[in-house]
Amino acid sequence: MTDPISGIEMCVFDAYGTLYDFNSAVARHRTAIGARADALSEMWRSKQIQYTWLRNSMAAYAPFWQVTGEALDHCLAAHAITDPSVRDKLMGAYLALDPFPEVPAMLDRLARGGVRSAILSNGNPEMLEPMVKASGLADRFDAVLSVDAVGAFKVDPRVYALVEARCGVRPDKVCFLSSNCWDAHGAAQFGFTVVWVNRASAPDDNLPGRIAAQVKDLSHLPALLGVA
Ligand code: LAC
Repeated sequence: MTDPISGIEMCVFDAYGTLYDFNSAVARHRTAIGARADALSEMWRSKQIQYTWLRNSMAAYAPFWQVTGEALDHCLAAHAITDPSVRDKLMGAYLALDPFPEVPAMLDRLARGGVRSAILSNGNPEMLEPMVKASGLADRFDAVLSVDAVGAFKVDPRVYALVEARCGVRPDKVCFLSSNCWDAHGAAQFGFTVVWVNRASAPDDNLPGRIAAQVKDLSHLPALLGVA
């Protein structure tokens, strides 16, 4: 049993993989992609994130939409998928990813308990806004913050500093949620209280930053924060 976390004013969520299921893009077009669909989805996500880290190291920021497309192009080539309509379908689906099933009720419970919610994502506003709108959840968030404002990707500390700058909430009053273990460590190292949404029951990464707690999915979050 994990100890409850107290004194939290705002929950700040990572978007892709935490609130929204990036596998739903490929899942929606499984027939067009064929047997390689799952391998393509996994490789796409992995390349997309690697490209953000490498661009940070090169000081060569580009919007996440561009990086996502460049990663997809590499993965389509690796899987010898040449039909251009597959690319269009997958990029289109990325603008309307499905939220994980527990997300709407969890956000409502936090709001009823007086805890504010926001998103902090690598996504640029032009891709986050349509997705949040399409999911019907736009009114649940006080802010949808994008790394685009600082021109660097996670885990650059300037990204996490956006929360206090834009929402006025001190880091020690923020609970940050991510299903990406590396993002969880980056946020913890910055100074947030971090809950890792360990959907895949993966082992922890050996990185700086102490993760306060783990949950299997976000349905467990309100109780962890003492919200009925
Ligand atoms: C994001 C990616 C890292 O939303 O999932 O920032």
